[in-house]
Amino acid sequence: MKRVKYISMVATAVAMTAMASGSAFAMVDSDIASTKHNLSATGGGNQTGDTTEICVFCHTPHGANITQVVPLWNRNMTAPTAFSTYADLGSSTLDGSIAAVGSVSLACLSCHDGQVAMDSLLNAPGSGNPATGWTFTSPDSTMSADGFLSSGIAMLGTDLRDDHPVGILYAAGNVVGNEGTPANFTDPDFFGVEVTTINGTNYWYVETGSAGRDRADMILYTRTDPNLATGGSVISGTQPYVECASCHDPHVVAVDANQVSFLRISNAGSALCLACHDK
Ligand code: HEC
Ligand code: HEC
Ligand code: HEC
Ligand code: HEC
Repeated sequence: MKRVKYISMVATAVAMTAMASGSAFAMVDSDIASTKHNLSATGGGNQTGDTTEICVFCHTPHGANITQVVPLWNRNMTAPTAFSTYADLGSSTLDGSIAAVGSVSLACLSCHDGQVAMDSLLNAPGSGNPATGWTFTSPDSTMSADGFLSSGIAMLGTDLRDDHPVGILYAAGNVVGNEGTPANFTDPDFFGVEVTTINGTNYWYVETGSAGRDRADMILYTRTDPNLATGGSVISGTQPYVECASCHDPHVVAVDANQVSFLRISNAGSALCLACHDK
């Protein structure tokens, strides 16, 4: 019931936005070259003149880092133990268990923690090249010449107590394989999820628009932590977790002022927050 009400609210908001801008509703556009994640010589923000390749700062076709489940990851990453997490804040109302910093969150943090240089790569351009000391320029002085984020709002550091929890169980767990109903969740104050099963593993997401998993949905990340305990019972097997890329897609451009910051959907009317939280 509540979900239906929410969807109609969003539909109204989307229709109003489309009318106001005089354009048809467009799904968020991927065009990484025009974003702050273009760190190459063609980028407009923090960048190096030493390569025109864009993907290489994050991906490699071969020899990727597989210490975490991240697609073809080309970066060295900080040790998970280096971070304090939202669990260390000790919020009394938190229901879900928080796993070690990992998955795609550790990948984002391999730049945003300020501990790893932009050119700390496994496979630099050219045959068998190690990453070589590239020089970076920063129009807003948020990055050092050797490629470390040094200041600014995007420099999250290793203290994650002041950030929305990541590595956090969705709805505190008990999410069943098939489409979940909130009543079954340990914390029912969350909207239901969809599941897709690929190669025998469940992958969950929160649907925000057209049916089927796409980049405008809130993607949940499948992790297994047999030691996670919640509500006195141990959750075994795989469960969906919220990570940085649940809310963000690092390749997309903003379609409106409420969807800056690589958000998967516009946060007009707090639609992004209300996609998961039944508030
Ligand atoms: C700033 C880092 C960064 C850059 C640069 C980057 N990616 Fe990614 N990419 C990621 C991360 C992080 C993920 C995992 C995100 C997720 O789970 O949706 C990802 C996932 C992907 C995926 C799989 C998921 C999907 O959305 O289809 C593909 C394919 C991909 N990237 C291609 C590219 C290509 C091609 C380029 C260059 C044109 C590129 N990426 C540049 C960080 C980056
Ligand atoms: C992808 C789903 C998702 C989205 C989107 C999301 N959240 Fe959350 N949020 C969670 C989960 C899961 C928790 C952990 C809740 C728990 O275990 O009690 C959480 C925790 C929180 C908490 C801490 C609760 C506590 O008890 O300490 C706050 C506050 C919060 N979210 C606010 C927001 C706001 C504001 C937004 C939008 C900017 C947002 N969330 C977007 C899933 C989401
Ligand atoms: C290769 C390094 C790198 C990786 C990996 C990376 N980022 Fe970034 N990101 C940057 C840099 C550099 C900036 C620009 C910082 C600045 O201007 O101060 C940035 C900016 C951002 C911004 C701010 C955008 C704005 O308009 O102000 C967000 C949000 C962001 N990144 C999220 C993410 C998320 C989420 C991930 C993982 C899915 C990620 N980033 C992975 C380097 C990276
Ligand atoms: C629950 C959703 C959610 C999660 C999880 C999340 N973010 Fe964000 N993030 C947002 C929203 C919403 C904004 C836009 C805030 C604003 O408008 O100022 C944002 C903004 C940012 C910014 C720009 C600075 C700012 O505060 O405006 C950066 C950088 C960033 N996020 C990186 C990350 C990284 C790295 C992670 C994982 C460690 C992460 N985010 C996890 C929702 C999230």
